[in-house]
Amino acid sequence: MDNKRGQWGSTFGFLMAAVGSAVGLGNIWGFPYKMGSNGGFAFLLIYLVLAATVGIVVMLGELALGRKTGKGPVGAYQSFAKKYTWIGYMGIVCGFLILAFYSVLGGMVTRYMVAFTLQLMGVDGFAGQGGDFFGFLLYDYGGLIFFCMLFMVTTLVIVMGGIEKGIEKFSAIAMPALFFILLFIIIYVACQPGAGAGYAFMFKPDFSVFSDPEIGFFGVLKSAAGQMFFSLSLGMGCMITYGSYLSKSENLQRNAFIIPVADTAIALMAGMAVMPACSAFGLEYTRGPGLLFATMQTVFTSMGSFGNFIGFLFYFLIFIAAVTSSISILEVITTYQIDKTIAKGKEPNRKKISVLYTVAVFVLALPVALDALGSGGAAIQAPYEMLGIEYKGPGFAMWNDCWLDLYDLVAEGILMPIGAMIMSILVGWVWKTDIIKKECELSGAAFKGYKYFDICFKYVVPVAMAFILVAQMMDFFG
Ligand code: TRP
Repeated sequence: MDNKRGQWGSTFGFLMAAVGSAVGLGNIWGFPYKMGSNGGFAFLLIYLVLAATVGIVVMLGELALGRKTGKGPVGAYQSFAKKYTWIGYMGIVCGFLILAFYSVLGGMVTRYMVAFTLQLMGVDGFAGQGGDFFGFLLYDYGGLIFFCMLFMVTTLVIVMGGIEKGIEKFSAIAMPALFFILLFIIIYVACQPGAGAGYAFMFKPDFSVFSDPEIGFFGVLKSAAGQMFFSLSLGMGCMITYGSYLSKSENLQRNAFIIPVADTAIALMAGMAVMPACSAFGLEYTRGPGLLFATMQTVFTSMGSFGNFIGFLFYFLIFIAAVTSSISILEVITTYQIDKTIAKGKEPNRKKISVLYTVAVFVLALPVALDALGSGGAAIQAPYEMLGIEYKGPGFAMWNDCWLDLYDLVAEGILMPIGAMIMSILVGWVWKTDIIKKECELSGAAFKGYKYFDICFKYVVPVAMAFILVAQMMDFFG
């Protein structure tokens, strides 16, 4: 391994970093709210099946390709053949787009964390807005940009530290902390009267959502598939990048199993904190994205004075989750430039590279921060006004008036499913699943379940990706 690039110091450190990448806003925000609006248990069941068939397989594919080539997505595909390089570039584009909106959301989480800290100190953290804080925050552009910058600088400082001394060191402390804080909140919530209804919603077999004409089986499948993919950080080369810093003695199959299991466990735990907390205070969990901010704020203020402490802990843990994810996205972009510099025979300057790319991402984040998440009456024009690409077809297309949704459509809706589909087709049909097997067996461990992985690479993953692609497009274009 090229020591100009660096390497993970330990298996535990790598796992914490990779699980940290996977566990993020997707788990603590997306999972509970999507589960809430997609029938609870039915969603959970489909999610688990998808994670086992598609998630684990794509995870192994990405980790193995990364370690085999010792490069990020662009370099990895390029080392097979020049004609595949563009697949890697799609990942880099996704990295910019996802990090741009992720930083704005991360900034909002940071702001809530600070607000509850002020509350704890006896100062009004909600700027006199009380329960309307969320509505206020969306239009407080100075605040949004400030906290977005704070979040980005935190991300940058860790990535500047490098693989072992930055990302690994931070994750190895932050991820166990996240776990114990979440556990504590779950126990505290469980002691609140009325929490039971929340668990029942999650775990009591109920498939009535399948006969809901608005959602139905395919509606649930589509949400669960998109959620699983984003939550596991798959499809843009994040795991290729993290895999490229692994030593050859590492057991890839075991890691590709542990990461999805841990990610799913944390998503479930987040559900077990959020759903019962809502049911205990008579709040809805089926209302969608406002859940993490507006609804949870109400939950904590209803808890009395101790609520400020729980509220602080809750947003602190989401902050950790978001930072360990955003560093993995910035690392994909940084690694790309590092690989390129090394290929030219020059000495890469990690610090300079990551600063430059952070500035670029910040510029991309500005439209997201200035349009009040599409709530109307914002500081800048909506995408369709600015780009002149209004979609007037049947159904109302969300991305017409929300920059976050537009970025999300391009990245999560189009490029990522295409990326994962092509990867699994290349592995299954062109390079053959054998290259994954060979790479895994370098550690000395025998490859398990070859037939299963082969079938998944060849058929299950491509079909699932095609399904996500079509479903997302139909969704966005109305
Ligand atoms: N998985 C993270 C979450 O659940 C987000 C994330 C990090 C991500 N890296 C990614 C999503 C790469 C897609 C691709 O919040």
